[in-house]
Amino acid sequence: MSARTWRLVLLGPPGVGKGTQGKLLAQAFRIPQIGTGDIFRNAVKERTPMGSVATTYMDAGKLVPDDVTIGLIEERLAAPDAQNGFVLDGFPRTAQQATALDAMMHRNNQQLDGVIEIKVEPDEVLRRLTGRRLCAVCQTLYHLESAPTRLPGVCDRCAGPLIQRPDDDKATVLKRLDEYQRKTAPLAEYYGRSGLLRVVDGNGDVDEIFNRIITALKTSVVRTA
Ligand code: AP5
Repeated sequence: MSARTWRLVLLGPPGVGKGTQGKLLAQAFRIPQIGTGDIFRNAVKERTPMGSVATTYMDAGKLVPDDVTIGLIEERLAAPDAQNGFVLDGFPRTAQQATALDAMMHRNNQQLDGVIEIKVEPDEVLRRLTGRRLCAVCQTLYHLESAPTRLPGVCDRCAGPLIQRPDDDKATVLKRLDEYQRKTAPLAEYYGRSGLLRVVDGNGDVDEIFNRIITALKTSVVRTA
């Protein structure tokens, strides 16, 4: 399945596993994983003007305004490494972002190959987010219960310290879930109408879910190039 071009979108609420599965898809298909949240967090870390806008919204559990996010993705998709495919993790999240992505694809004579919606129950999402930790140095993801480090608080890969994302405290998580329901969940219907949507059960272990995604993508191939 890796010999062709894949332009993919991962949909699903905060904490469902988009970042985890996006990374595996990027490795399997040798395409970049483009996570808007990761790009915003880097911008915050580097204190860029975009970072100072984004941080206000992220810390409040709100979506960053569409004009900022769409401009960012337009620029990122124009980069050479995205010309042979990509996996979008966290974009689009609003109707306006979805139509902007369609317009970008159309202008470049490209099309999406699949939209994967990952689903788990709200309680499991909360468990995943509140237990999530990441390495402050290499950004490797862990979970206190389901993907713990060998030594508490120390990254297995680079020995860096583990941190909790500032927006993973319970109050902010609940706001993010509310934003998702109001603004992003309706995109499932949008992509359902275009025939691109594949719904995948996000319960179970990471490899099992990855295999479900691959199986789902086999049924979403609509073109051969
Ligand atoms: P972003 O960083 O994209 O956050 P998110 O969508 O809320 O998603 P998360 O990163 O929280 O979760 P995930 O689904 O990637 O799960 P993960 O794989 O990490 O966005 C952050 C903010 O940026 C937004 O709130 C917004 O402000 C802004 N933003 C981003 N995009 C935007 C856009 N398009 N428009 C406007 N604003 C935007 O997994 C979670 C945990 O679960 C981990 O600990 C992991 O180890 C564990 N886990 C994963 N899979 C499993 C499994 N199968 N079983 C058990 N545990 C698992």
